[in-house]
Amino acid sequence: MSRIVHVNGAYLPESEAMVSVFDRGFLMADGVYEVTSVLDGKLIDFTPHCVRLARSLSELDMQNPHDDADWLEIFRQMVARNDLAEGMVYLQVTRGNPGDRDFAYPGPEVSPTVVLFTQSKPGLADSPAAKVGWRVISIPDLRWDRRDIKTVQLLYPSMGKMAAKKAGVDDSWFVQDGVVTEGTSNNAYIVKGNRIITRPLSHDILHGITRVAVLRFAAEAQMEVEERAFSIAEAQNADEAFITSASAFVMPVVEVDGKAVGAGKPGPLVARLREIYLDEMRRAAI
Ligand code: PDD
Repeated sequence: MSRIVHVNGAYLPESEAMVSVFDRGFLMADGVYEVTSVLDGKLIDFTPHCVRLARSLSELDMQNPHDDADWLEIFRQMVARNDLAEGMVYLQVTRGNPGDRDFAYPGPEVSPTVVLFTQSKPGLADSPAAKVGWRVISIPDLRWDRRDIKTVQLLYPSMGKMAAKKAGVDDSWFVQDGVVTEGTSNNAYIVKGNRIITRPLSHDILHGITRVAVLRFAAEAQMEVEERAFSIAEAQNADEAFITSASAFVMPVVEVDGKAVGAGKPGPLVARLREIYLDEMRRAAI
């Protein structure tokens, strides 16, 4: 089935959805994005995604083309027009099309380019991968220093994913100064006893929307949360490990650089956290 794609206010069949070759998103990776999941035809954690979008845009001096109410209407249109029950809505805003290539930003007369499309993923919540867990390798973190801005500069994360694929595993964890920053497209955690350890927020990592919710649910479930960086050796000696993202939710990590974490299979704390997260998010979905 051909998808309906949103381009600058129009809802078009995907074969007719186009942006200019002069768009700064294409030429300069001058754009930001959000991935919001959909379960039971409803948006998961929608408002925090809007808040982060506004922050990414403002950090780059880019106009926000819509207010939160307009965004919600557009997202709902996308879900409805694509009959999306389970999957993701992808949103990208770029600095637009100045009509030529120039390093300097264009003035306010150039409007941002807005694109949204949906990705249908039946069985996303009941993922078989969550039952076996992910295996990861570590690679140096060679990204720029403003990873808190959700830009479309995703070449190095793509290289990380390819390194993982080549090694026959599921993902790469980035390491900087001897400690883990995050995964290619997710935040990273280890578990020791009843304690969850994850890197504190800074410019070094993306401020995950799933991270906020998961840490809140963990505290409510009487789990301890410690925000500090951890090394690969510490992860290999942890009881459990996991990642979070809007598309993988809470995903167990069972092996790091060829060494089993804990029993080498998904452990009880992460399984419980995934269940709580999905239950609570389904309940609050809009
Ligand atoms: N990635 N860290 C990075 C580098 C990410 O790209 C992502 C999300 C996260 C998790 O953030 P959130 O919980 O808000 O999804 C952390 C999305 C899913 C993607 O690029 O597809």
